[in-house]
Amino acid sequence: MKTNEVLETIKARRSVRAYDAKQVPEEDLQAILEAATYAPSGMHYETCHFTAIQNAEVLQELNNRIKGVFAKSEDKHLQERGHSQTYCCYYHAPTLVIVSNEPTQWWAAMDCACAIENMFIAAKSLGIGSCWINQLGTTCDDAQVREYITSLGVPRDHKVYGCVALGYMAEGAPMKEKTVKAGMVTIVK
Ligand SMILES: Cc1cc2nc3c(=O)[nH]c(=O)nc-3n(C[C@H](O)[C@H](O)[C@H](O)COP(=O)(O)O)c2cc1C
Repeated sequence: MKTNEVLETIKARRSVRAYDAKQVPEEDLQAILEAATYAPSGMHYETCHFTAIQNAEVLQELNNRIKGVFAKSEDKHLQERGHSQTYCCYYHAPTLVIVSNEPTQWWAAMDCACAIENMFIAAKSLGIGSCWINQLGTTCDDAQVREYITSLGVPRDHKVYGCVALGYMAEGAPMKEKTVKAGMVTIVK
């Protein structure tokens, strides 16, 4: 199989769910965000917005507001998360990037997914761990959450399609071996 540094980085990326407290350096964050802005977008509209948060208190407040929505849910599993003292949707990562887009085009989520994967690969290439965090996607239209993310810079008319947790993997954090399902590829010649 042919390989190079980019292909090896893609294959080495894994979702990291335990982080140490060391913050992502400014230069690295800028490079990761730049990678996001270079992602393709439908019709080249470039309507995505990336709100990067590196403030632990802000992240904790955001988590509390997300938990507040879960606590009101009829879903038992979400209710448990909502009332849990320890639940942290972003795994205490020191940096979280909120990825949002205007919901006016049917491909809005796809634009965001392209940018998110670019961030994952860029982060991996810099030795930084990452994980997709979905909980703001389902809660961004709750009034308490919306008020808060608007104050952080998420455009009012945007929906959140995902978030990217960034940071250094905690030492000794468990990591399952990557398995790839057989039969995912068909080549027609
Ligand atoms: C659309 C999408 C949503 C995801 N949401 C979450 C999430 O909210 N929390 C989480 O821990 N992982 C989330 N993941 C990560 C997947 O669980 C992960 O990619 C998968 O288990 C494969 O593991 P790997 O990323 O290490 O290859 C999400 C991934 C995708 C693509």
